[in-house]
Amino acid sequence: MDEPIIVGIDIGTSKICTLVARVEDGRNLRILGVGIEPSQGLRKGTVVDINAAANVVSRSVEKAERTSGFEINAALVSLAGSHVSSINSRGVVGITSGIVDFDDIDRALDAAQAVAIPHNREIIHVIQRGFIIDGQDGIRVPVGMHGYRLEVEAHIITAAASTVENLRQCVGASGIEVSQFVLNPLASGEAVLSETERQMGVAVVDIGGGTTDMAIYIDGDVWHTMVLAVGGNHVTSDIAHGLRLPISQAEEVKLKFGHALRSGVNPEEQFTVRSFGGDSPTRIKRIELANIIEARMEEIYQLVLQEIRRSGYDGLLPAGVVLTGGSNLIAGNRQLASQVMGVPARVAKPQNLIGLVDQLDSPAFSTSIGLLEWALLISETSHYIDRQGPKQVQNWSEQLKDLLKRLLP
Ligand SMILES: Nc1ncnc2c1ncn2[C@@H]1O[C@H](COP(=O)(O)OP(=O)(O)OP(=O)(O)O)[C@@H](O)[C@H]1O
Ligand SMILES: [Mg+2]
Repeated sequence: MDEPIIVGIDIGTSKICTLVARVEDGRNLRILGVGIEPSQGLRKGTVVDINAAANVVSRSVEKAERTSGFEINAALVSLAGSHVSSINSRGVVGITSGIVDFDDIDRALDAAQAVAIPHNREIIHVIQRGFIIDGQDGIRVPVGMHGYRLEVEAHIITAAASTVENLRQCVGASGIEVSQFVLNPLASGEAVLSETERQMGVAVVDIGGGTTDMAIYIDGDVWHTMVLAVGGNHVTSDIAHGLRLPISQAEEVKLKFGHALRSGVNPEEQFTVRSFGGDSPTRIKRIELANIIEARMEEIYQLVLQEIRRSGYDGLLPAGVVLTGGSNLIAGNRQLASQVMGVPARVAKPQNLIGLVDQLDSPAFSTSIGLLEWALLISETSHYIDRQGPKQVQNWSEQLKDLLKRLLP
């Protein structure tokens, strides 16, 4: 029974999902507790009403506690919103003993963080993208190597301090300490990307209700991240406007009859809805609905493409784009994405789940499952040098141990 227990709370614009999992054999996650609740008090990935959001978090946590039988005191929590930004930075230090040790790596990462970050922003992640020793680049495991000068390329993700604090308060209201915030696309990436894709070069794009989150992986590491404040809710409100329906009905119509490609539906096919204030049901052509959806989804993919180009890595993604998030459940979406962005695309959901997983078998839960995978990643020393900054990992694994101790029944 001393296998570690980890907890993730995915605070999405559409749903809040708390998961409790046991780490089996040091690698596999068995889901023991699930608490999924429709969100309130969130817009475009950020909290706009603390009390409403805190109530939903509390309900979701209670459900997960009830199903798992564990009391939750701390959790990894997802973070998104257009207030998140990222920069790449380089830290340079002298190698004191002539052979690189963990202390040198720590100092190099500290040096990389010494960029001017305004006081109203908080550093969320410092991720190493590779090391350079005496000018030789492409080094992934520097410890034990000889040299005089160590450089680290780091990807630094920051967020608006006040927005982060609001989120912390929402979770804190249920007596839960945030052991680590994890940026949405990094969590999703952990859940759906294969190691081969990461090595080749790939972008993971999570389209949820209120946000579109992207992370670019090249040579196995994260090189770029971004959060756009646009998602499936925009598709729904376009449908509501275009077909003159209340939002709830527009959402229903989208899930039932939606298609992301006009060319994918029969031009004669119709469905029936009762419009705003209308007495008699109206018949609507399905192609009209597809038209509205295609226009908005195409715009989202254009924005993603623009961001990929802006990052400068557009030529480095032979594995293309991996799509996830609830909005990718719509038919025809993969083809549209591939057409607009001109790269191969696949739609992915979390794999190899065991335990209480019936509700989680969907692209909508990639971030939720990814939070748990992230906890696994930071607690694994084998990944430690390879994929993460050592200092951060040491702290996190201590935090994690601490968290696990407190979580044990
Ligand atoms: N079958 C479906 N067809 C089309 N859209 C769908 C389908 N199922 C869910 N969606 C859409 O997916 C979105 C919710 O996705 P998801 O659960 O990933 O969002 P979230 O994580 O709560 O939000 P975010 O991450 O953006 O803050 C909603 O806009 C919903 O309409
Ligand atoms: Mg999400």
